[in-house]
Amino acid sequence: MIAAVPATMALAQTAENETVKARRAFYTMLGFEMGGLAAMAQGKVDYDAEAAQAHAADMVTLTGLHTADFYAPGTSKDDLPGETRALPVIWEDMGAFQEKGQAFGAALAELNTAAGEGLDALRPAVGKLGGACKACHDDFRAADF
Ligand code: HEC
Repeated sequence: MIAAVPATMALAQTAENETVKARRAFYTMLGFEMGGLAAMAQGKVDYDAEAAQAHAADMVTLTGLHTADFYAPGTSKDDLPGETRALPVIWEDMGAFQEKGQAFGAALAELNTAAGEGLDALRPAVGKLGGACKACHDDFRAADF
């Protein structure tokens, strides 16, 4: 039975590592879609209504995931140093964290409407969404691992 204890711990550790991997993959995909929009907003890539709409729609799809389980307990930077930048304050103040998520959702809805309406509509909507990303990162994401 002694051997069963470390085996169980190893399993729990794996589940938490998998959660962090999934969480970071989620944000990587969000960042990828945002990158395509930012390139257009900044004039690095020609504006393309269809591509802009696809990026926005994919972000809407991503945020339709049940993201709560990406924030399982035991997956903060304090729990898993070197693996995640998610600050423990997320779990201490989940309400404030969710407020940032809601502001992000509202900005994304605006962007989703504006994306196909030309560069002049896209640009401010991308700026606003980027601000919502940053607002959450400022409070809840560490600068390094
Ligand atoms: C409600 C809070 C919140 C919002 C809104 C948010 N993020 Fe994040 N983001 C985080 C947290 C927390 C992490 C750290 C995840 C980790 O290290 O486990 C993160 C990590 C990331 C990462 C790094 C992924 C990696 O490889 O570790 C990228 C890229 C990213 N976010 C992009 C974005 C973009 C782009 C937006 C807006 C379109 C956005 N995020 C909106 C909280 C947020």
